[in-house]
Amino acid sequence: MGISILAGPASRDLAKGIADILAGNEHTRLVDVDLRVFPDGESKIRIAEPLDGEDVVVVQSTYPPVDTHTMQLFFMLSKVSKVASRVVAVIPYLGYARQDREFLAGEVVSIETIAGIISSYGIDAIVTFDAHSRLALSYFTIPVHNISAVPLLAEYFKDRLAEEGVDVDDVVSVSPDAGGVERAEAFARILRCNSIALRKSRDRITGSVNIDYDMLNKMKDTLNGKIAIVVDDMISTGSSVVEAARALLGYGCKRVHVTCTHALMLNGALEKIKESGASDVAATNTIPNKVSRIVDVAPLAASALLSILNSSGNEGSSSKSSSSSSSISTY
Ligand code: R5P
Repeated sequence: MGISILAGPASRDLAKGIADILAGNEHTRLVDVDLRVFPDGESKIRIAEPLDGEDVVVVQSTYPPVDTHTMQLFFMLSKVSKVASRVVAVIPYLGYARQDREFLAGEVVSIETIAGIISSYGIDAIVTFDAHSRLALSYFTIPVHNISAVPLLAEYFKDRLAEEGVDVDDVVSVSPDAGGVERAEAFARILRCNSIALRKSRDRITGSVNIDYDMLNKMKDTLNGKIAIVVDDMISTGSSVVEAARALLGYGCKRVHVTCTHALMLNGALEKIKESGASDVAATNTIPNKVSRIVDVAPLAASALLSILNSSGNEGSSSKSSSSSSSISTY
C-alpha cells in the first residue's frame, strides 16, 4: 500500500515537494483538498478521493491566520482518522506553541488545548519542525517527531561563506536570547565558529523587546569586526532579531545575517529587519514567505515520514489508542 499525501490549504507547495521526493521510494500520490471559505469566514473542506484503509499524511502548517489554518487541520484529521489505516500529521509550523505555560495568572495554556484536540483523533504521529519548546510538545499524548532545521540552515551558511572565502574565525553564531542558546551552539558546531547568546527581555504587556547592553559590553572584543549570524526559531514581528542586529552592529560587527526556521514576518518585519542594517534573511519554507534565501525542509520531512511509516507495523485503527509521546532529532 502506498502513501497518500494530503495537501492542506496552508501547505500545498510543501506537500507537493514531499510527495515528489517520496515518489522515488514508495508508491505515493498527492491528494488535493478542496477548500471553500464562506462569507462569514468558516472553512469547508472536501477530500474528493477515497482514502479508506490507506496510509495518509496530512500536511498543514498552522501559521497566520492561525485559527483558520488550525481549524482546517482539525477538519482534515477528523475526516481521515475515521477511514485511513495510519495517519501522520505534518505540521511544519506549530502555532500556539509559544503559549506553553501560564505566564500571567489566569492565562490559558493554548497549546495544551490544541495538543489535546489533535491527540484526540488518535492519529499515529506528528512531524513538526523546531517546535518552540519541549514543554509545548509535552502536552501531546501521541508521538511527536520534532525535527530541527538548524543543521540545514547552518549547511546553507557554511557553503555560502566558504564560497565568499570567509574565515570561520571571523564568524559568530548569535542567539538573540538565553532560550535559544542550544540552537545557536548547534549552528556554530556545523560552521565550526564561536557562539554567543544575548540576553533579551520582553514586556509581557506591550511586547517590546530590550537587549541587555551591559552584557554585550563585556563581549565587545568577541564581536568587533566579526560577521554575526543571528539564529532564531522564528521571526514574528521581527523585534527580537531587529534589536539583536542593531546591538551587534553597534558593537562593531561588520555584517549581520539573520536566519530562522519559521518566517512568520508579521507587521512589516522584513522591512524592519532591512532597516536595522542586517544584510539579509534566510529561512525555511515551513511557512510560505518572501525572504531572500529559502531553504527547503521537504527532504527532512520525507525522510522522517519514511522512517515512521516503515518502522511501525500497519496495525490499523487499533494502534490509534497509543498514548506514548516522544520527541526526536532536536539539534
Ligand atoms: C522567543 O522566545 C522566540 O524564540 C522568538 O525569538 C520570538 O518569538 C520572535 O518574535 P518576534 O519576532 O516578535 O520578536
